[in-house]
Amino acid sequence: MDYADTIKKIVTRISPSPTVFIRSFGCRLNVSDGNSLLGKILDMGFTVTNDVNCAALIILNTCAVRENAEKKVYGVIGELKHVKEKNPDVIIAVCGCMIEENHVAEFIKNTYRHVDFCFGTFAYGKFPELLYNALTTAEFQCDNNKYPTDFTDFNLYQDNVIKADVPIMYGCNNYCSYCIVPYVRGRERSREVSDILSDIRSLTDNGFKEILLLGQNVNSYGNTLLPPTPFSSLLKQAAEIPGDFKIRFMSPHPKDMRKDLIDIIAEYPKLCKSIHLPLQSGSNRILELMNRQYSRETYMEIVKYIRKKIPGCTISTDIIVGFPSETEYDFEETLSIIKEAKFYNIFSFIYSKRVGTKAADLPDKTTAAEKTSRMTRLLSLQREISTELYAKYVGKTLTVLFDGTSKTEGLISGKSDEGIIVEAPGKTDKIGEYRKVRITGSHNWALHGEIL
Ligand code: 5AD
Ligand code: SF4
Repeated sequence: MDYADTIKKIVTRISPSPTVFIRSFGCRLNVSDGNSLLGKILDMGFTVTNDVNCAALIILNTCAVRENAEKKVYGVIGELKHVKEKNPDVIIAVCGCMIEENHVAEFIKNTYRHVDFCFGTFAYGKFPELLYNALTTAEFQCDNNKYPTDFTDFNLYQDNVIKADVPIMYGCNNYCSYCIVPYVRGRERSREVSDILSDIRSLTDNGFKEILLLGQNVNSYGNTLLPPTPFSSLLKQAAEIPGDFKIRFMSPHPKDMRKDLIDIIAEYPKLCKSIHLPLQSGSNRILELMNRQYSRETYMEIVKYIRKKIPGCTISTDIIVGFPSETEYDFEETLSIIKEAKFYNIFSFIYSKRVGTKAADLPDKTTAAEKTSRMTRLLSLQREISTELYAKYVGKTLTVLFDGTSKTEGLISGKSDEGIIVEAPGKTDKIGEYRKVRITGSHNWALHGEIL
């Protein structure tokens, strides 16, 4: 049965212009999954609404990476009870990483009776069937079976017209001991090079100016292809596509950050000079417990090679504070490598225990207050470093892709090639093109400038 077509007929009978509200939590890859799903729903005759109270269909695409992310989702699902009370016809679906955790799926089923169906990250392809069933019966459904990934069942819909996301691989084989991803996203699998290149061509032909290549471990791309194709080769072929656009990628793992990849980034102007390289900890003992497969010394060798081959390339990172058994000494090791590496930005997280991961079994005696105090110290150190690094851009000219307006009236905002937020006085007609900007001022989080 063609579920999509039947749904189109059913929903247009209920309402001439049925609307969908979708909210994705978590990482960019999850947002991209949400957009792909949304693209398919729009093809069924729905239009997007930003108001849950007006929606015929509500979808929450969830994230399981930390407890806070899950709590946020539970809060939003709870609020939807009132929406369903006011509009009993609304269909509410919860999907994504949380649904892959059986205890979570069970909890949602038993606690939130207003949810019509749930589906996991392997079951996006089952969405039309689940929606059809929800429209025709009142039974709660949950599908978190591990279906094989169908790379053709993918929609390139983007939530904006300037920057586009292109997933290149799914899943992860690394099993970092704190991380839920291999359990909720499965083993690593890569899309074909030709499919990815064709997506990039089609997006850039349609005017997109920045392509973000996405994967949970982007630089181990290609291991499952026949023949295996290294990420550096994909990146080179992508950078050779003609057109006025640039390419970023997220997130690489330091253990797969080979020199040939850095050389390619250095060689091609289309590849942005900004690398997000998650470190997690500066202590070799903690890195070992995390199963990260590199030491602080090998991490710093990569940083030095990047700095030598690509002068001006910015490096940002992720840090986990308070991993089980982290001592004051371990934490100081993290502070010391932060001082040495001089990241232009750090995304820092307090360790969150995830059921089913290896680290969940490790004893954790550090108090919550101590973890918060370490986090405050880390943030304050990074603020000093960012302030110092950003001030050095004053007087220089950067290339910036403006993609929106700033919170401050009269300013537009975008990102430089180096991945730094830049704000400048300007009208919206300056949005969507690369502009040369002379930097006139700096904060610890952004630069200010004048469009030349
Ligand atoms: N607790 C805290 N932070 C985590 N991350 C992943 N798993 C956890 C966890 N259990 C962080 C890592 C990763 C980023 C996306 O989220 O720093 O790089
Ligand atoms: Fe969250 Fe990880 Fe799933 Fe992304 S892959 S949504 S970060 S749990």
